[in-house]
Amino acid sequence: MTRDPTPAAAALIELRAVTKTYGTGSAAFQALRGVDLTVTDGDFVAVMGPSGSGKSTAMNILGCLDVPTSGAYLFRGVPVQRLSRDQRALLRRRHFGFVFQGFNLLPRTSAQENVELPLLYRGESTAARHAAAREALAAVGLAGWEHHTPAELSGGQQQRVAIARALVTEPTVLLADEPTGNLDTQRGREIMELLAALNHERGITVLMVTHEPDMAAYARRIVRFVDGRVASDTLNGHVVGAAASAAAPTKAAAPENA
Ligand SMILES: Nc1ncnc2c1ncn2[C@@H]1O[C@H](COP(=O)(O)OP(=O)(O)O)[C@@H](O)[C@H]1O
Ligand SMILES: [Mg+2]
Repeated sequence: MTRDPTPAAAALIELRAVTKTYGTGSAAFQALRGVDLTVTDGDFVAVMGPSGSGKSTAMNILGCLDVPTSGAYLFRGVPVQRLSRDQRALLRRRHFGFVFQGFNLLPRTSAQENVELPLLYRGESTAARHAAAREALAAVGLAGWEHHTPAELSGGQQQRVAIARALVTEPTVLLADEPTGNLDTQRGREIMELLAALNHERGITVLMVTHEPDMAAYARRIVRFVDGRVASDTLNGHVVGAAASAAAPTKAAAPENA
């Protein structure tokens, strides 16, 4: 094997000996105790592990919502800890989409407007926002539901709106923290099918926290956290869902957005 020195050869995401301590003094709690993790472009990773093992803490650091106490986070070879707060915010907005357990949609606000919000922050024109939001809602199977408010949508539909909102900025990485935690099994499976399709068809890298083995089964790789460390990191030998028939996700199928 020869070493390729170009930046393109860098992993998409790399955590090296990352620790995170919340609080100080006698109240200090070390949520991450030395996490090493490498994720390549196009991967689909399920993050599992007991409650309190540091999964959300790690996701928040990966998504540039929080910073490590020590250790290094490299995004495409760039040391994130050396970026300014503003540069980190730009990295977050440019490359990451977030989906949470609780949907986090604005109430009394249409699906369309919820999805447009990230583009409003980007300063895009009204016409561009409308078009992109409609396309994102169609991509999650919600064409025709644009003008419904969250209260008029089922839990599964609300989570689809949240996924459309994460997609509308065309993120490199989708971070999903227990996205099926508030849904019944069937609705959960539908969300997983959707995430698997986005990974497979658009080449979006997906990192998803879940407690449920049935949901983790859609991922290519399963990383298990225990007590603030990665206890195991294994390939899923029996992937279910959209990527099951293919060896690897491909970026070639990603549609160009006008
Ligand atoms: N903002 C915070 N301040 C203090 N402790 C926190 C904070 N966030 C998380 N923790 C603690 O850190 C540990 C890991 O939390 P978390 O990353 O949320 O775990 P998980 O997502 O695996 O359930 C838990 O013990 C939690 O109580
Ligand atoms: Mg959590």
